Amino acid sequence: MAREIKSQEYRVALTPAGARELVQGGHEVLVETGAGVGSAFPDEAYQRAGARIGSVDDVWERTELLLKVKEPIASEYPRLRPGLTLFTYLHIAADEPLTRALVDSGVTAIAYETVETDRGALPLLAPMSEIAGRLAPQAGADQLEKPKGGRGILLGGVAGVAPARVLVIGGGMVGYNAAVIALGMGAQVTILERSVERMRVLEQILSGRVQLLMSSSLQIEESIKDADLTIGAVLIPGALAPKLITRELLGTMKEASVLVDVAIDQGGCAETSRPTTHDDPTYVVDGVVHYCVANMPGAVPITSTRALTNVTLPYVEQLAGSLRAISASAELARGVNVLGGRVTYEAVADAHGMEYTPLDDALAAGVA
Ligand SMILES: NC(=O)c1ccc[n+]([C@@H]2O[C@H](COP(=O)([O-])OP(=O)(O)OC[C@H]3O[C@@H](n4cnc5c(N)ncnc54)[C@H](O)[C@@H]3O)[C@@H](O)[C@H]2O)c1
Repeated sequence: MAREIKSQEYRVALTPAGARELVQGGHEVLVETGAGVGSAFPDEAYQRAGARIGSVDDVWERTELLLKVKEPIASEYPRLRPGLTLFTYLHIAADEPLTRALVDSGVTAIAYETVETDRGALPLLAPMSEIAGRLAPQAGADQLEKPKGGRGILLGGVAGVAPARVLVIGGGMVGYNAAVIALGMGAQVTILERSVERMRVLEQILSGRVQLLMSSSLQIEESIKDADLTIGAVLIPGALAPKLITRELLGTMKEASVLVDVAIDQGGCAETSRPTTHDDPTYVVDGVVHYCVANMPGAVPITSTRALTNVTLPYVEQLAGSLRAISASAELARGVNVLGGRVTYEAVADAHGMEYTPLDDALAAGVA
């Protein structure tokens, strides 16, 4: 398991508890020095679980299955190699240089975010979406404070003073969790959703506490004018986020209102969104504060590492048992984005105008 070197990323892909499970399953576990420190897991905790501690070179060169949290960054590209299976968040539909590096290296790259159940659920994205969704109103409320550059409005208002208006675009895992926290903070919340089925679920669980409206370009145009805080939470699995907030529309938003574009890891849902980091999370375009941190859950590593590894471990155990699990498990097969120099995830190939090879064909080509 590798240590994360992306700015302000403190999560790790395996806890000592997970390491112990793998060791008990008969596997050899190698952990990079200091990998767990940001999540409050010292090297000794992994050693007590039966793992070995190694250098960055050991971990990248000697493991067959490498667990990470975030995508490799440019300085890690030279470490990618044939024979290595990488299991991590990738989000490569929005990252052409990384897609090409993965293809050119011959690595097998399985993306957490595209592992998908037969019912279309994304089990490895869900916990991070819960966390990012819950952080979004918190980050937005902070940025709405005047000294931070915001409008200077309190999300919950006070007795006799209207609360702030929060617009959530996309009512999936991020959107629902953002709405729940924004409601808890006392804001007036509107959710725009495109799926009628999903809206019925939201209607049941939020029972009249939020305004639920069908998402359309006209509705976005109307709702965004009133919002103090807009939260971008849409997803088209594996594909780039739709640019629902055009530059023109931005001009109609309230001065010093805040846009928290959680969908930034898929390119963002505003034309003006570009990824930022926790070091420097915001920038302003046309008077609107943009908060576009691509790894929001990285801010709360103690929560995030545990939530992530709770859901990844069963898949890690399958892969550690046999790398052939990628063809035996339909869920894992959907997670394979690149194999043997080919792009095996259609939406990624489409996003970059690259050739798409179905996984079975790529596996057959690898065997031949
Ligand atoms: N920045 C971060 O740190 C971070 C962390 C976790 C997740 N995310 C991202 O947040 C986004 C949302 O993730 P999620 O887990 O909530 O996905 P999800 O699939 O649970 O929900 C997405 C929702 O968007 C809806 N949608 C699609 N197009 C729409 C449109 N035009 N208008 C309104 N709604 C629309 C879908 O119907 C769905 O209900 C993803 O891009 C995900 O990668 C970012």
